[in-house]
Amino acid sequence: MNTADFIFNTDEYHIDEAHYTWRTPSNIALVKYWGKSDPQLPKNASISFTLNNCHTTTSIRFSKTAAKEEAQFELFFEGEKKEDFKPKIAKFFKRIQEYCPYVLQYDMHIESSNSFPHSSGIASSASGMSAIAMCLMNLEQALNPEISADYLKQKASFLARLGSGSASRSIEGPLVVWGTHEAVAGSSDLFGVRLPNAVHPVFEDYQDCILLVDKGEKQVSSTVGHNLMFNHPFAERRFEQANDNLAELLQVLASGDLEKFISIVESEALTLHAMMLTSEPYFILMKPNTLEIIQRIWEFRKTTGSHVCFTLDAGANVHVLYPKSEKQQVESFINTELLKFCQKNQYICDNTGLGAQTI
Ligand code: PMV
Repeated sequence: MNTADFIFNTDEYHIDEAHYTWRTPSNIALVKYWGKSDPQLPKNASISFTLNNCHTTTSIRFSKTAAKEEAQFELFFEGEKKEDFKPKIAKFFKRIQEYCPYVLQYDMHIESSNSFPHSSGIASSASGMSAIAMCLMNLEQALNPEISADYLKQKASFLARLGSGSASRSIEGPLVVWGTHEAVAGSSDLFGVRLPNAVHPVFEDYQDCILLVDKGEKQVSSTVGHNLMFNHPFAERRFEQANDNLAELLQVLASGDLEKFISIVESEALTLHAMMLTSEPYFILMKPNTLEIIQRIWEFRKTTGSHVCFTLDAGANVHVLYPKSEKQQVESFINTELLKFCQKNQYICDNTGLGAQTI
């Protein structure tokens, strides 16, 4: 597939009114994407667990109108009209209008809500953008019933990617690869694909408990962070390392080797933050409590032999990962030893999920 395959080129808009609702999840990368080129193409391949409980639900009502120069929409978030969210979505529609000219032919009334607090530091762009993409693809399918289910998902991921890179990994699950990688058949820089390789059952229902360490607005956005990978002294080596880590992780995902899983995943998290620490200008998104939690996880693992480990997103929150068989033991450890490091003791327990769902 290449970019031209995603252009919708029918001039027939025979649907007057349509209304679709999709629920799409957040995801957590195991091998991280950090660094991109235009238009939102990753510098290395990444892989993530699709989450289940952390999701966005979005409805779009489409009403046919005379063709406009730019997409017309109104946006409600959790019941309230949100003018301040509009510029980001307007930019997204502008980016995709080449592939989805129908966004200029319909007025769109968008209503969206998250299952997690908006200011929790959990990235809502992945779930938010992928939900809009699925609603658009539903309209596209109604306009052109010939498109296949595979194409629909690929193009939804392609569109979501243009909104937020990691959103390309929120359409399917439980493991999605985005970025061309020789060990993953069908992988592409243009869209995410469900990992086609063998996966050991232990990874089919992995647990992710997200500890909300800092719910404040990030001091450095991921757009700025990605840009700092240009001219970064370690960037090229980092991109190679990520691709190597992905190759190794694929073997681990097939064999179920949890020790190796832990060492790759934790190293990836710390490397992501090491790139931030060594950017010019440098910045730190971890907080003292992020490090406290990491230390406690390492101690707990050493004393109990547990397979709990952590990963980090571009923020201070800690994703605590563990196999389902250790759920009871790890959750009691979280309650007694880690919750005190979270803002207002807040956390969200999640597990791997299967991606977008129509409502
Ligand atoms: O999708 P973006 O542009 O918000 O970038 C997110 C990058 C990380 O979340 C830090 C890593 C990843 O691969 O998800």
